[in-house]
Amino acid sequence: MADQPIPDAESVEPTPDGATTGEVQASRTKEPPAAHTEIAVDIANLTKVYGDLNAVDDLTLQVPRGSIYGLIGPNGAGKSTTFAVLATMLKPTSGTAKVFGADPSKDAKAVRRMMGYMPDVLGLYDGLDAASYLDFFASGYRIPRRKRKELTGSLLELVDLDGKAKTQVSQLSRGMKQRLSLARALIHDPELLILDEPASGLDPRARIELRDLIRQLAGMGKTILVSSHILSELQDLCTDVAILEAGKLRANGPTETISAGSGERVVTVIFADGARETFTAASDDEQVELLRRLIVDDGRAVLSFRSDAGLERAFMTMTEGIVQ
Ligand SMILES: Nc1ncnc2c1ncn2[C@@H]1O[C@H](COP(=O)(O)OP(=O)(O)OP(=O)(O)O)[C@@H](O)[C@H]1O
Ligand SMILES: [Mg+2]
Repeated sequence: MADQPIPDAESVEPTPDGATTGEVQASRTKEPPAAHTEIAVDIANLTKVYGDLNAVDDLTLQVPRGSIYGLIGPNGAGKSTTFAVLATMLKPTSGTAKVFGADPSKDAKAVRRMMGYMPDVLGLYDGLDAASYLDFFASGYRIPRRKRKELTGSLLELVDLDGKAKTQVSQLSRGMKQRLSLARALIHDPELLILDEPASGLDPRARIELRDLIRQLAGMGKTILVSSHILSELQDLCTDVAILEAGKLRANGPTETISAGSGERVVTVIFADGARETFTAASDDEQVELLRRLIVDDGRAVLSFRSDAGLERAFMTMTEGIVQ
């Protein structure tokens, strides 16, 4: 998928691997778009066609400002393609996408100022160490030289790479490259972060730290658009989710609503004596009643009571395993 965009594409030198040239050229629109809208990302009838394949198929969805919005879907669902359009790296075949009112394919410069993009793969930047890599992108965002050292230092610290400042990017582990990519996306303190599978390749501790960091960034008022296959993590993290399959939107809305879905939930109960039993419940009320019955009527010591209502179940119900 696409590499990272550079904010003022025409104002910086090409990257070491020449990877900055997106399919979309930055326009020279002077007027910054209004950033007071309550909708951070507004996608309407977005379609991206490759040959006879609809990678994104008439997608319409809105990402509320300040939300942590999860895009989930099987391999090939169109998540990265959608992100690449929003990140100014790819032109849609039809339909529109707006980032705080600005169209990525018409006003790339404005979008790049407001948006930080962490792609699913990090381009190769042979010859640069981690600190110089961030410094290079900081210069692209026209951050003055005197401020760059402190900025890159604090970003490396934020993603726990301060010990690797002088290590060549090509010599970083996969998870470290992911973290460096996240630091790069944050360099210009964007209002919107687009994170394509940010947790992939991260060890458990780094995943938990990433989740905390995303929450922290959302707490600062940023809008986060994130894709992942680790649904249990998105469940805890995201305020809203959209489920995509074969380029089409299957469901979207607040995470709780999508997770609750309809139909029976399987409830797994573990008792203090080590016994493990499963029950079914059709609603929250039935779950409450089940718990009451077990404890009050039956006098059993319940150690853990877990319903499988969640994104995984919604995902399995709403997708059919279509591969195009
Ligand atoms: N440059 C391209 N040329 C042709 N087809 C493409 C191109 N990029 C993506 N596709 C196709 O578009 C569809 C959507 O791909 P995309 O990468 O957006 O999926 P995804 O949801 O991000 O999947 P994953 O979970 O595997 O990352 C796939 O069928 C893919 O093969
Ligand atoms: Mg992808």
